[in-house]
Amino acid sequence: MVSRRGFLTGFAVASVALTAGCASGRSGMPSVRAGGTRPLPIPPLAPSTVDADGVRRFTLEAKAGTTEIRAGQTTPSWGYNGSILGPTLRAARGEQVAFTIHNALPEPTTVHWHGMHVPASCDGGPHQTIAPGGVWQPAWTVDQPAATLWYHPHPHGSTEKHVYRGLSGFFLVDDAESDRLELPKEYGVDDIPLVIQDRRLTVDGALDESDPGDIGLLGNVIITNGIAGAHLDVRTRRVRLRILNGSSGRLYNLAFADNREFQLIATDGGLLAAPVPLRRIQISPGERVELVVEVGGDPVTLRSLPIEQRTGIKNPAAFGFDDSFDILRLQPARTLKTTAPVPTSLATIAALVPPGTPAARSFDLRWHMINNQRMDMNRIDMTIPVDTTEVWTVRNSDDWPHNFHVHDVQFQITAIDGQAPPPELSGWKDTVYTTPGPTYTLAMRFSGHTDPTYPYMYHCHLLLHEDQGMMGQFLVLAPGQQPAPMRMDMPGMEGMDMPGMGTHGGHG
Ligand code: C2O
Ligand code: CU
Ligand code: CU
Repeated sequence: MVSRRGFLTGFAVASVALTAGCASGRSGMPSVRAGGTRPLPIPPLAPSTVDADGVRRFTLEAKAGTTEIRAGQTTPSWGYNGSILGPTLRAARGEQVAFTIHNALPEPTTVHWHGMHVPASCDGGPHQTIAPGGVWQPAWTVDQPAATLWYHPHPHGSTEKHVYRGLSGFFLVDDAESDRLELPKEYGVDDIPLVIQDRRLTVDGALDESDPGDIGLLGNVIITNGIAGAHLDVRTRRVRLRILNGSSGRLYNLAFADNREFQLIATDGGLLAAPVPLRRIQISPGERVELVVEVGGDPVTLRSLPIEQRTGIKNPAAFGFDDSFDILRLQPARTLKTTAPVPTSLATIAALVPPGTPAARSFDLRWHMINNQRMDMNRIDMTIPVDTTEVWTVRNSDDWPHNFHVHDVQFQITAIDGQAPPPELSGWKDTVYTTPGPTYTLAMRFSGHTDPTYPYMYHCHLLLHEDQGMMGQFLVLAPGQQPAPMRMDMPGMEGMDMPGMGTHGGHG
């Protein structure tokens, strides 16, 4: 019998050390400085126009191009408004935003606003497909606390491939409270977006999409903001890193090489109540953390160490848990601009539910299934009345790593196996790592937007698992509203391999 836990083949998974300088064998390329690293590219802030009625308008185009991921070598890649990744979108709480999104790719895609509270028809999930040559124009009012969100494709069955080829970008939300805080906030100077991803490249420099293991495409080349072997020139005493794990399946256990302390100031959905001093922080695919670290004197390297939360994982090496990587070298200037220490209080986070509130729903994660079912685009898994707060429990009963992401909301982790969560999980989250065994209790509020036709998703954010159908759909309904899900006709997607696309309708 063929095991579903196949071995990874084709590349070494044992401790891959990517030190500055080894990303390319060619040291004479003009764009590479001595030492072999290149400056960290900073995604440009997306231009926008604000029209007379106050709507902030952005334009994005998903397209193919080529990128020098490894110095001196050209890699075919996909990006928004460029050859890889996308511009950083930025809007303030209360602003109306509108997008014109062109798909210049040879296949259908979608653009999902991960972490954003949006109307379901604007969510950019698998139901909002943009055909090749097509245009999609979602619009909504930003209404949530300041946070580091992101956007990425979500075409059902092809999300991993689209993200792997380079489609991802940051979406920063600002608000008055965070504007008032003395935090590093000069974009690209002391406030640095940093998307960490892993890739495999063929000798020719093409992205190697062959042989996904049980965790998906696990790469041995770490790229930051789209390139391998980057350094950041730091000019201020403190620097804020807004870190996104944009990988398909790889987890990172982030630490500085000298084990220095940093302040964790924010997680997926915004600022923590107070900074948490830490020496390491683990992030699974889709999660974000914001750190403030103090620099000065010698360069210091941000690294990823072997994954510690591995109880119950059958073959940790196959999931990359034993690997360690250098990620980014921070090079302080000789004289640094002074910056204020991190404020001791950052945000007010009121508990969504009293302790002990019973769970409305439970989710079992195993193999490529949630509650023993795989995604069906034509099946609504649950309906939720609008303006309700629900408690969900989630348990990974597998011996694989999984995580759990919910669209439209930010949730609070109220308990892990009945215990209060650690401080790093005490803030707003939209994605939580689920180690095998414990029950994660989440509280979330479904407010404002209702739609009887278009569902939101919940899923494992390990992209291969998601593509394989480890996902479900829910409608948020107004009082008295009846579900009226639309059968997916998927214009432009005929003949594509779409796992989980059942032919039976209905909802439950
Ligand atoms: Cu970041 Cu449904 O995804
Ligand atoms: Cu999402
Ligand atoms: Cu999973």
